[in-house]
Amino acid sequence: MTQPQPQPGILDIQLYVGGKSSVQGVRDILKLSSNENPNGPPASAQQALAEAASTLHRYPSSDHSGLRAALAELHGLEAQRIICGCGSDELISFLCQAYAGPEVEVIHTEHGFLMYRLYAMAAGARLVCVPEAERHVDVEAILSAITPRTGMIFIANPGNPTGTKISDEDLAELIAKTPKTVVIVLDGAYADYVEGWDGGARFVEAHDNVVMLRTLSKMYGLGGLRVGWGYGPQHIIDVLNRVRGPFNISAPALAAGEAAVRDHDFVIQHRAQNNAARAYLAEELAALGVASDPSDANFLLARFASQEQAEACDDHLQSLGILVRRVGSYGLPECLRITVPDMAGCARVLQAVRSFLEKTP
Ligand SMILES: Cc1ncc(COP(=O)(O)O)c(C=O)c1O
Repeated sequence: MTQPQPQPGILDIQLYVGGKSSVQGVRDILKLSSNENPNGPPASAQQALAEAASTLHRYPSSDHSGLRAALAELHGLEAQRIICGCGSDELISFLCQAYAGPEVEVIHTEHGFLMYRLYAMAAGARLVCVPEAERHVDVEAILSAITPRTGMIFIANPGNPTGTKISDEDLAELIAKTPKTVVIVLDGAYADYVEGWDGGARFVEAHDNVVMLRTLSKMYGLGGLRVGWGYGPQHIIDVLNRVRGPFNISAPALAAGEAAVRDHDFVIQHRAQNNAARAYLAEELAALGVASDPSDANFLLARFASQEQAEACDDHLQSLGILVRRVGSYGLPECLRITVPDMAGCARVLQAVRSFLEKTP
């Protein structure tokens, strides 16, 4: 060998490709490719960010106590069992680093979020892909994939890119029938869009092997700042804190994140706006013959007749400056994932899809 070699598994990782943000020659872009908040970041967070500018010479808090206190207060959780990460992505990586590894099987679902696979591979673990039932997580299929080597199970609920949610009854069954040595990760990146739901926190309270992940990247409009958080049993949080760097979140991100979490009106308004626009977009797309599953998130998974039709529609949308997400890498080549925009954006998307279908019925 003539050069250093990475650990086994690393070179099998396919680079993650984020949502498109520009099209050459098109000015008026409507970016619906990364499930971002169409209203932008809360004004409260922008102000906190500006105020943080004068203390940039200081290292950030290493225990994130202000942000954890705000999250604990809002969600009725124990602050010492919250961990914050540079996006929830970082927490997925900590979990894999700590609980996966060579010979450990990590279960993810057919259309599950890609980062579970990437970080499990980076840890050298074995991936076990479980089929979904028509784009819904299938608890029975997960249970039948568990072996003595299973170390972790990742479920996004609601799922990305499906938008579908499984019930608390299904989660309760999964948790009850899974060996207590397996870490079950309930990824609630989109849980904020489900009014009155705790994202699975009740299961964390009741079990020693369940972790909930959340993010400020979606509902809270702070994807660019990279703030996520997790809630788990104390013994798991203590482990994750050992692999976490002391300054993994910058001071401006902590300040803006805490301000956003305390901005309850922002969330209430945006949730109502998203859920109304989502219902409208789904209904009008269906009227055009483009079906989608009921979504509990801030996006719809639009299903076309074929991969060719989905890609042709995407090309047409791009030519009009509307950027959505192809999801072939999630095993859904005949679908396009569309972030829910505001009502004016919905009208623009619908007009574009209508003109595409008229052109190529
Ligand atoms: C299901 C799911 N989990 C986690 C994440 C990661 O979010 P972030 O790292 O921005 O917190 C995303 C982002 O798209 C997601 O869709």
